[in-house]
Amino acid sequence: MQKLLFFALLIFAISIGENNAKKFRIVNGKNGLIENFPFQLSLRLRTIHICGASVLSDSWAITAAHCVHDVEHTPREVTLRMGSTWRTRDGVIVPVQQIHTHPSYNAETMNFDVSLLKVRENTFHRPDLYVKPIKLPGLSEKIPNNSVATVSGWGHQSSSDHNLSYQLKYTQVFTVDQVECNNSLRIHGGVSNAMFCAAARSTDACQGDSGGPIQINGILVGVVSWGVGCADPYYPGVYTRLAYAPIRFWIKLLTKL
Ligand SMILES: *[C@@H]1O[C@H](CO)[C@@H](O)[C@H](O)[C@H]1NC(C)=O
Ligand SMILES: *[C@@H]1O[C@H](CO)[C@@H](O)[C@H](O)[C@H]1NC(C)=O
Ligand SMILES: *[C@@H]1O[C@H](CO)[C@@H](O)[C@H](O)[C@H]1NC(C)=O
Repeated sequence: MQKLLFFALLIFAISIGENNAKKFRIVNGKNGLIENFPFQLSLRLRTIHICGASVLSDSWAITAAHCVHDVEHTPREVTLRMGSTWRTRDGVIVPVQQIHTHPSYNAETMNFDVSLLKVRENTFHRPDLYVKPIKLPGLSEKIPNNSVATVSGWGHQSSSDHNLSYQLKYTQVFTVDQVECNNSLRIHGGVSNAMFCAAARSTDACQGDSGGPIQINGILVGVVSWGVGCADPYYPGVYTRLAYAPIRFWIKLLTKL
């Protein structure tokens, strides 16, 4: 139990990062139903929700590296709840068999913050549940500036209380020009080509949403990675850019997707 708690704190510490405020939660989101987000998973360390993840195929899911890096060699500690609107009930809980973190992942800079999760064959083939893969972007596909994107998860609901949401939440954000975002976040390390930014007034993703999906027109363009504060008008949220060639190619290499 103590170790578990420590891990939860560690995740928090990592997500806070060097510059003391890298965290993610859906703030001011709307209630979602799994019917409309059938690719959404709750990633659990033993029984505790720590992050989101997304279904890619019958046997693969994707999340942020900072969610699972410390348990990469003990994947049995990680389970996924699929097919449920609710963080703590319904759907089906399934074990993770293998965790593959991107070889270029850097826990300090959060660069290449992406991991693939392998489950038993056909685990996500569940016509009896709301479980369905989401499409990946094409290799090097660009994300236009100011696109409407949807981010979802069970993360904390406000900056002040550490209270995960019971119901799935979602919110809409707008993609931010890369150079502008790099400038905004310069004192926090800036953004690399393996990242992109999105923001909106008084709504955001935050802690507990990490690893979860950000989609544009039904395409999984990114994974919730880091931010400075929550819904802070000066700081956009940062996402792992899945179309970036060294990431997209690595995904294809492992999953054939
Ligand atoms: C975003 O806008 C900037 C500045 O107008 C431009 O240089 C850049 O190419 C745009 N990015 C995309 C992906 O369209
Ligand atoms: C925590 O969130 C739930 C809804 O998900 C709400 O009913 C409850 O009042 C919240 N607790 C606190 C302390 O904010
Ligand atoms: C971000 O800005 C830094 C300088 O502040 C620069 O070295 C880096 O290449 C920029 N990254 C991108 C993706 O534009």
